[in-house]
Amino acid sequence: MKKKSPVSRSGRFGKGPAADAAQFTESISFDWRLWEHDILGSLAHATMLQSIGLLTKSELASIQKALDQIAEEICAGKFKWDASLEDVHMNIEAELTRRASAGAKLHTGRSRNDQVALDLRMWLRDEIVVLNRAIRELQLALVTLGSKNRDALIPGYTHLQRAQPVYFAHHLLAYVEMLERDCERFTDCFSRTNVCPLGSGAIAGSTLPLDRELVARLLGFVDGKDQARLTQNSMDAVSDRDYVVEFCSSSALLAVHLSRLAEDIVLWCSAEFSFIKIADAYTTGSSLMPQKKNPDIAELVRGKSGRVIGNLMAMLTLLKGLPMTYNRDLQEDKERLFDTANTVHSSVRLMSAMLNNTAVNQSTCEKAAGDPGLLATDLADYLVVKGMPFRQAHHVVGAVVAAAERESKPLNEITVAQLQKIDTHFGNDVREIFDLKRAMARRKAIGSPGTEQLSRQLARWQKFLQAR
Ligand code: ARG
Repeated sequence: MKKKSPVSRSGRFGKGPAADAAQFTESISFDWRLWEHDILGSLAHATMLQSIGLLTKSELASIQKALDQIAEEICAGKFKWDASLEDVHMNIEAELTRRASAGAKLHTGRSRNDQVALDLRMWLRDEIVVLNRAIRELQLALVTLGSKNRDALIPGYTHLQRAQPVYFAHHLLAYVEMLERDCERFTDCFSRTNVCPLGSGAIAGSTLPLDRELVARLLGFVDGKDQARLTQNSMDAVSDRDYVVEFCSSSALLAVHLSRLAEDIVLWCSAEFSFIKIADAYTTGSSLMPQKKNPDIAELVRGKSGRVIGNLMAMLTLLKGLPMTYNRDLQEDKERLFDTANTVHSSVRLMSAMLNNTAVNQSTCEKAAGDPGLLATDLADYLVVKGMPFRQAHHVVGAVVAAAERESKPLNEITVAQLQKIDTHFGNDVREIFDLKRAMARRKAIGSPGTEQLSRQLARWQKFLQAR
């Protein structure tokens, strides 16, 4: 017969739940991941209980010792998780109480409802720090690849049609900007996650004189001025999962950014574009076609964005009909959150690794960017400088493009005489419009893909990223 657990639901229930009910309701199979934060939270709570006289010094010491041992055993993979104990909180507390009788006092003034909220917030704080670090690495990989190929030009595309020439590095830096906003969003999410809910009890706090500030301080729930940050409404505190939604939402947007980058990479390494070459170690072959080299990592990053977006939808749907306050539905938050964090973290890491093993095919880039049609707008700007209103200049250049098409000639091979026939504003100086190097030097406004701007932007990002 099974020994009755010291943390069973005791009194009220004669027998444990039916086997299938237990299997359906358990969360230990996934929430074991919260063990470290659960133990840290318990240590802080116990320290506080001693400080307000609800535990003796020796009781506290015995709890600390047993929790330390348990942590070591979990770390070493020796701890036996028991599914009949439902979740990580009950597993650890049961084992604690088996080892130290004072463990039975640990749940004083605490409920699993505020405990799980605490654990999840602590877990997420750490996860955000790790993820932001990985995003910085990806930014650095993009900046490095750009700097190594700072002269490479490619066509910029709109509607996936060649539009205007841009530096390859300028294209990469567009993603660095997106990723920077992602980091900002995660940092922002961190600040709302970094609020301590412990002391809220099951729903309505406690009659005991809990020192919430002490617990918050011990667990690092403080602001920039070292002030403790505490939830201010017990009912909100035990049922709030806004921080999970915010993380899933910021992750969904990050995943969308990664997916767009992945799509560019897939295009760039196709034979049709052939702008880049990914090292073999970061590609895969085909089981049938011996010649194939596929960008599976980029494709999976693109594909995995689907589950990250799905997780956000699942979280919002999970919360939308919940009456106040804690409902068991909330247990469903964890797998969505864990899966989101795992997926975006591994996608970011693999994307960095792949980019660090990618070479730019300068000659194909040069050939593509050398398409003189890309400078049609520069030709219109030339006429603007000669005093023509832009709308008219656009029309005139349209006529030049049509003439070139009729003669199956590239735009830069239309003679000055022909140009002058179309419009008298054209002079001999028009030739230099098609000098790509000069064209790139002319793009001077902040944020444009001009030569000088690119140097500035690369230097700015290098300095910023190396300072971390
Ligand atoms: N495993 C539960 C969860 O993840 C912990 C909280 C349980 N609370 C309760 N009242 N049954 O939400």
